[in-house]
Amino acid sequence: MVTSEEGELFFKSPSNEPVVCGIYMIAEPDKRIQVTFNYLDVPCDNGGLVAWIDGWELSGQVWPADSWDDERVVESCDRRPQHKLVSRQNAALVQYRVPAKGKGFAVTIRHLKNSKPCNIMLFGAEGVYTLRNHGETGNCSVIAISPSVVRVLDLNVGQTVKKSGILYLETGTLHRCTKRGLADYVDIGGASGLDHTRMEVFDSMCGLDSNEARRSILIACEDTVVRLVSSGKFQNSVTLAFAPLSVENIEDADLICGFNEV
Ligand SMILES: *[C@@H]1O[C@H](CO)[C@@H](O)[C@H](O)[C@H]1NC(C)=O
Repeated sequence: MVTSEEGELFFKSPSNEPVVCGIYMIAEPDKRIQVTFNYLDVPCDNGGLVAWIDGWELSGQVWPADSWDDERVVESCDRRPQHKLVSRQNAALVQYRVPAKGKGFAVTIRHLKNSKPCNIMLFGAEGVYTLRNHGETGNCSVIAISPSVVRVLDLNVGQTVKKSGILYLETGTLHRCTKRGLADYVDIGGASGLDHTRMEVFDSMCGLDSNEARRSILIACEDTVVRLVSSGKFQNSVTLAFAPLSVENIEDADLICGFNEV
């Protein structure tokens, strides 16, 4: 199940089958997810398990893959995690396998403010989003779990040096930035799963451009991905408008995932 709600959820196993299920939680882009286990009665025998995952996992792929570490997974059975679990981004997951009829657990889900969102997941979302590195080194991304139409409304990547009052000149949108030796850029494309590090890139850009892009990019992939790569030397931001890609527009798509695979 997928939920964007706050509140309490109970799970009671209907059978002794070792089925793996998940509560996929999602919140607004500027929120984090907090889960508290109020109650947990899952016997460890027969592989009974409840796991908190700071991110999403689906078909063996995780998100956000490029900032994954062991701390993102907390597994338990028998004893409930005592502390509150808080995600680093607006999506998290509780995965469970309770092969004991009548056994289960209860969680309370809360959405907390995230003042520096880096990785953002959009679930059927339409709207305008700004991706920022907050002056830091590393990669931030937006992943929309749907084929989408993306338009760049504002670009400021690899230009604004941190903590300086200088006014910068518009360079316009530059393409193939890595070939020009620039370390900061935005990739726009798609992926056939949650792992955005395996994304197919349609366009890569950097520069300072406050004019809305002349045209939208149509991404016909399971997931639409925009990835901001930052050296840490600049305050980068990119503002994007997302809309669903309609079935009629698929044939006009700029990128169809899996099409160039051998
Ligand atoms: C960020 O992305 C770049 C380019 O894909 C990659 O070389 C680098 O390892 C990534 N950084 C992290 C922290 O994952």
